[in-house]
Amino acid sequence: MTAKEKIQELRQLREKVKEGGGPERMAKQHERGKLSARERLDLLLDEGSFQEFDAMVTHRIHDFGLEDRKIPGDGVVTGYGTIDGRLVFVFSQDFTVFGGTLSLAHAEKICKVMDQAVKVGAPVIGLNDSGGARIQEGVTSLGGYAEIFLRNTLASGVIPQISAVMGPCAGGAVYSPALTDFIFMVRGTSHMFVTGPDVVKTVTHEEVSFEELGGAEVHATKSGVCHFIADDDGMCSTQIRRLLSFIPQNNLEDPPSIEPSDDPLRMEEDLDTIIPESSIKPYDMRDAITMVVDNGDLLEVHEHYAQNIIVGFARMNGMPVGIVAQQPSFLAGVLDIDSSVKGARFVRFCDAFNIPLITFEDVPGFMPGTAQEHGGIIKHGAKLLYAYCESTVPKITVITRKAYGGAYDVMSSKHIRGDINFAWPTKRFASPYVAAQMGYIDEVIEPRETRPKIIASLEMLTNKRQQNPPKKHGSIPL
Ligand code: HXC
Repeated sequence: MTAKEKIQELRQLREKVKEGGGPERMAKQHERGKLSARERLDLLLDEGSFQEFDAMVTHRIHDFGLEDRKIPGDGVVTGYGTIDGRLVFVFSQDFTVFGGTLSLAHAEKICKVMDQAVKVGAPVIGLNDSGGARIQEGVTSLGGYAEIFLRNTLASGVIPQISAVMGPCAGGAVYSPALTDFIFMVRGTSHMFVTGPDVVKTVTHEEVSFEELGGAEVHATKSGVCHFIADDDGMCSTQIRRLLSFIPQNNLEDPPSIEPSDDPLRMEEDLDTIIPESSIKPYDMRDAITMVVDNGDLLEVHEHYAQNIIVGFARMNGMPVGIVAQQPSFLAGVLDIDSSVKGARFVRFCDAFNIPLITFEDVPGFMPGTAQEHGGIIKHGAKLLYAYCESTVPKITVITRKAYGGAYDVMSSKHIRGDINFAWPTKRFASPYVAAQMGYIDEVIEPRETRPKIIASLEMLTNKRQQNPPKKHGSIPL
């Protein structure tokens, strides 16, 4: 073979790799409203940036008729590329090849990108669309999953890990996304469950559809498994890109600041009147947050779950921050089991990745009742307390109306190392001046001053260095 022929052969092989499971299966994928593994990567990554690994890898099964069915890539496209010019590692499961199922070879490909990502300190994004363990492989497939779970766990808090579930994700396979930092799901096409509707029917006699059991809506509103919900694959890619714009590449870097495009000294007069005269009237804390942050831009996490607390990312004078806020217009902003867990998870992510925390507090306390007590509000509320206590990133608190009971302590109070604590002079029963006299509030401020005050505090805290006592790890009340 001449050199020219050899290059021609390589080109043909590369083209074959792109065919995946063939045109029929590809058409079926599109009919379901789903994109192919490669189309998804095209949308996710900067144009032309994708570099592929292991395109020729095939499974090694010599049984069940699979010995004659080897498809290069073996059901997952892996490699790296960039998003807004920043390096990311990716894997994208190809449902057209053996239903995107996980063979040992498939697992090894995923592990390779995860190892590389940890080595160079860059995020991993997994696009999941898979029938789970490849039945013909038996225990080697299970071993492959375990190798992935181990890497998910060891990479946790070192590099950001993002999962998009864009098709089925069932059985133990759900635990890889569950171990990552954020899960995206797509309405109508993605499902996650440990046991499917048939098994549920056999064991518990419940009749439930795929959608009711583990659809995107259920996980975004009821279980809290899903952090972001998208209408289709394209929207999901856009959401992932936006999330990454707020977070650093790894735990040793600061989050990416951008050129500020909003006045840091902007006073917002409407904040002065946002708290209703009547103390029983709610208001939308989202309005207050969007008046304070750069250009009113807030990316909510868990937007549809435990809505009595708001968590999300925003910028202050170009610097990414994590926002935690009570929502008085939902269950009066009370702290209950779900909102405590939602808040705790977010606080820990921000702390792990050097993202300052800004807490807007208007809290009547913890939710009373047997449902909450028997459900474990003590241990779940403790998670939020623990998360705030252990966090060492800059922490700024603004009490907008009230901070009662144990919830006063929990929500980034001065006593648990809140760096700067402000209060508006609009507290319902207890006056903020009593706390201010004790030094528990650094300053009582006019609501309109909130933005410039927070930005000045963040700048003052830029070089904050704080460490917890050395230990293997704490024992958070799980
Ligand atoms: C091997 C599989 C497969 C599997 C699907 N396929 N699941 N091959 N092992 N687990 C193949 C099908 O044979 C088919 O091949 C192709 O993938 C597409 O599947 P269809 O059934 O035609 O597609 P669809 O109707 O959309 O149904 C998708 C599905 C269904 C809902 C995912 O296939 C299904 O229920 N599969 C079994 C899911 C499952 O029980 N997985 C194990 C979960 S437990 P052809 O050649 O026709 O295209 C698990 C344990 C992990 O994963 C443990 C970790 C600790």
